Amino acid sequence: MAPTTALALTACGLDEPAAMEGDTVPVVTLKGMLEAAEDGGYGVPAINIIDDLSIEAVLAAAVQERSPVILQTSVKTVKQYGAKPLFGIFSALVEGVDVPVVLHLDHCPERAVISTCLAEGWNSVLFDAHDLEIEENRRQTIEVVAEARAAGADVEGEIEAIQGKEDGLGSDDESKQQTLETAVEFIRATGIDCFAPAIGNAHGRYEQAPTLDAQRISDLVEATGVPQALHGGTGLSDEQFQDLIRRGCAKVNISTGLKEAYMRSGYEFLQGAAERDQWDPPSLFRVQRQAVLDMAAHHMRVFGSAGRAS
Ligand code: 13P
Repeated sequence: MAPTTALALTACGLDEPAAMEGDTVPVVTLKGMLEAAEDGGYGVPAINIIDDLSIEAVLAAAVQERSPVILQTSVKTVKQYGAKPLFGIFSALVEGVDVPVVLHLDHCPERAVISTCLAEGWNSVLFDAHDLEIEENRRQTIEVVAEARAAGADVEGEIEAIQGKEDGLGSDDESKQQTLETAVEFIRATGIDCFAPAIGNAHGRYEQAPTLDAQRISDLVEATGVPQALHGGTGLSDEQFQDLIRRGCAKVNISTGLKEAYMRSGYEFLQGAAERDQWDPPSLFRVQRQAVLDMAAHHMRVFGSAGRAS
């Protein structure tokens, strides 16, 4: 079922977020959101949520900071909940939120999962076919773009492994870059709305500050005009974020940062609970919610997206 009733999908500008008559849900397209970010010179945080608590906390951060936000789900999270229940939770929690929101499927090599999520109402997907030969990747990405367009959704594409594992997907081997020409040709031929290049970035914690090929972002944006997705956001410096955003990384992914905020705050709280021998789940959830909210709000301020949703 295409997302026609529950969520109004529209390529609105950020000054007039989304809501169509009769709808209160400000779900906007990825393309519209990233174009506004490129024009405004800021990056939109794309945060991997894992459950209802983290969805609500990230949305609360976006409302607090008046920031557009992208909520991402890994394939693992989709499979854990089932697409329909997960979309139901998202729909319930996004209702009444008055800043622009995109629901995006992160790194997905499985066409069936893409189809299921598009049918349930995700309005953006990353078809991650970097494991395929480039020609086959291009051919299938063109098909995914057509399928997504029919559902009113947008597509991020990928031709290179981003080093490190994201919720079980990926590899710890060093990424191999394709040539600039190959990447530009792929972006143009597929009509994707966003591209995920390997520039020395990696999922998970960096053991040492990475040297990033920032020029590649400038080159890709200059050649295609298509916004770039910065993967492996956790652990980059404010200067790295801001430089890459200025060059065209309009989508900035954060996953490990959320997991750490969620788990560490819970761990510390549970240590105190054990000492006190008091076991009150809502108190634990409050602490975790605040930690996730603060983490998300911090990134919104660093990426310059805070204050951009009217
Ligand atoms: P981090 O886990 O390093 O923040 O990367 C997130 C990401 O790129 C998700 O695709």
